Amino acid sequence: MTVIVTGGAGFIGSNFIFYMLKKYPSYRIICLDKLTYAGNLSTLAPVMDSANFRFVKADICDREAVYKLFEEEHPETVVNFAAESHVDRSIENPGIFLQTNIMGTSVLMDACLRYGIKRFHQVSTDEVYGDLPLDRPDLLFTEETSLHTSSPYSSSKAAADLLVLAYHRTYGLPVSISRCSNNYGPYHFPEKLIPLMIVNALADKPLPVYGKGENVRDWLYVEDHCKAIDLIIHKGREGEVYNIGGHNEMRNIDIVKLICKELGKSENLITYVSDRKGHDMRYAIDPTKIHGELGWLPETRFKDGVKKTVKWYLDNRAWWEPIISGEYKNYYERMYKNR
Ligand code: NAD
Ligand code: DAU
Repeated sequence: MTVIVTGGAGFIGSNFIFYMLKKYPSYRIICLDKLTYAGNLSTLAPVMDSANFRFVKADICDREAVYKLFEEEHPETVVNFAAESHVDRSIENPGIFLQTNIMGTSVLMDACLRYGIKRFHQVSTDEVYGDLPLDRPDLLFTEETSLHTSSPYSSSKAAADLLVLAYHRTYGLPVSISRCSNNYGPYHFPEKLIPLMIVNALADKPLPVYGKGENVRDWLYVEDHCKAIDLIIHKGREGEVYNIGGHNEMRNIDIVKLICKELGKSENLITYVSDRKGHDMRYAIDPTKIHGELGWLPETRFKDGVKKTVKWYLDNRAWWEPIISGEYKNYYERMYKNR
């Protein structure tokens, strides 16, 4: 089987590539990635020389490059992770989110139609459902929850989901969609909550908590997400949406305090800063469908996952130090100075 993994130089895509190469040594895995600020070729260094792995630097919006790759490789499966993924950046500059997340997805699906495919899998997000109130813990997102987005990022992901379902109904493209909650683990870009707090705490820098820190996210260890996608592309039904999440709701402030504890740092580093515009209050996934149909359950408990993640950042400074000393510095200034 030949699988194209788009966005495989990013956080979840790279973890998925490692997982697939290990589990299916007979598969050919091709990573197509534009290498934006969030893509890092050094992440893929351990597999770059593997005989059954190929890296191609290209933009999913570049029709010619995408068609050429399909012509060369005749993939059976495409898993689309490629996206602009950071909510704060989407608030600053929505255009590139619409381009990559919507137009790029349509180019990939056009290639799938033209060259034939067994499965196009779209990696989506729980953010397409909007948010839930803090005082209604009984409410969870199911696959039937209506789409109700808050940010340019989540709107672009919801638009892509609708396009994917339209390609299924109109052209019969064999598609599936997964909507996952917040991931954490190795190779997470340090603009996101957990790695940002780890690298700031290690440098004894302020830990910027938006608003009151009461917003709730439903955290899942990245390998559990990879396992769920593996199940969906092999056994999931065509045309279906599967929610992925592990009943692991945590308030941001509690996560930040936990990271301080793990690193032996003072909570005095915590600094409350002005809130994200349109900040979603709470996400919570109901994973009944994927559990019932495909037998998926998360395997890593949050307290173990956080320990593993903190240890990974301690052991892999060579991965993240070059990131935070480059263009990231300008981003950090723009986003956090005078906030
Ligand atoms: P990321 O930002 O770490 O990585 C994105 C990757 O896509 C990078 O390697 C980047 O170079 C590449 N890319 C961006 N634009 C591209 C383009 N036009 N053409 C080709 N490659 C391009 O993102 P992530 O956190 O790994 O998220 C991966 C996917 O999972 C995204 O679709 C995101 O919406 C979804 N998702 C993320 C989470 C999460 O918690 N991180 C949760 C649910 C769903
Ligand atoms: O729910 C899935 C989504 O999770 C994915 O679709 C997105 O691609 C991914 O980036 C993530 O989105 P969030 O906005 O939830 O993640 P982020 O790490 O940016 O923020 C998590 C929470 O922490 C959120 O409530 C905002 C808050 N936060 C974040 C940062 C970066 C802070 O309080 N301070 C910060 O500095």
